[in-house]
Amino acid sequence: MTSTQIGDVDTQALTDEVIRSFDGTPDTRTQTILTALVHHLHAFVRDIEPSLAEWESAIEFLTAVGQKCDPVRQEFVLLSDVLGVSMLVETINDQHAPGATDSTVLGPFHMTESPTRHLGDTIDEVGNPNHLLVTGTVRNTNGDLLPHATVDVWQCNEEGFYDVQQPDIQPAGNGRGLFTTDELGRFWFRTVTPSHYPIPTDGPVGTLLDATHRHPYRPAHIHFIAHADQHRPLTTHIFVPGSPYLDSDAVFAVKGSLIGDLGTADAGHAAQFGVGVGSPIATVDLVLAPTPSGSADVL
Ligand code: BEZ
Ligand code: FE
Repeated sequence: MTSTQIGDVDTQALTDEVIRSFDGTPDTRTQTILTALVHHLHAFVRDIEPSLAEWESAIEFLTAVGQKCDPVRQEFVLLSDVLGVSMLVETINDQHAPGATDSTVLGPFHMTESPTRHLGDTIDEVGNPNHLLVTGTVRNTNGDLLPHATVDVWQCNEEGFYDVQQPDIQPAGNGRGLFTTDELGRFWFRTVTPSHYPIPTDGPVGTLLDATHRHPYRPAHIHFIAHADQHRPLTTHIFVPGSPYLDSDAVFAVKGSLIGDLGTADAGHAAQFGVGVGSPIATVDLVLAPTPSGSADVL
């Protein structure tokens, strides 16, 4: 067991006293979480023995993270992402959904509502001719197709920017769409092939990456959130195969199972989906696990 002795003082009594201060917490889960937080946080502080100046800079850093947040900028999400915490939480929760598609991080750019679109629509509102066709299904873990499931999609453009990052250049809703699967659980839409891109670095998280000589790039991907009645929502990506940074994602969010498979449109696809012959086609099958009975599962 790690010693709680610092010089002449045993600091365990302080930790115990703080933990006891939560004895009256009515909600047991809240109490468990706060107890574990104090236990691990005190152990971390004992481990690093910060100077007062270091602790002050830590508080300044967290203050700057909070101050950088606004309705379209989520610096705390970004911090959780670059420290691998978002991915750890996803991985823990995937264990409750055996057989489902792997999940991955939500990221900070799902802050606006996606426009409702019809199957076959393009989500590219700037008229780019290079269409990628995405076709997919939503199924349950028994393999049954799920009609009327919603599939929320968002992605950056070919230059690596989300609409919210370029409000003067991209119309709001560009690269986003909310689709509903047809009677056979299918969805399809047209888009552009997204680029790899750097996560925002003009805030304290960028300073952290700089100070640690880490690059800020994410491999190219399209985000999905699928919802169907009686099923756990799924938040995931498909990654563009061959994209740079698949092996060094700044937010640790690549899982091999999520690297897409790109085919090529033939004349039949061209006629059916309105894409050019030779356009890339990504096929995405989203598998949802059932919601445990009686539970109100939330994202
Ligand atoms: C994203 O994929 O949109 C994203 C995820 C984590 C951090 C920054 C961006
Ligand atoms: Fe993204």
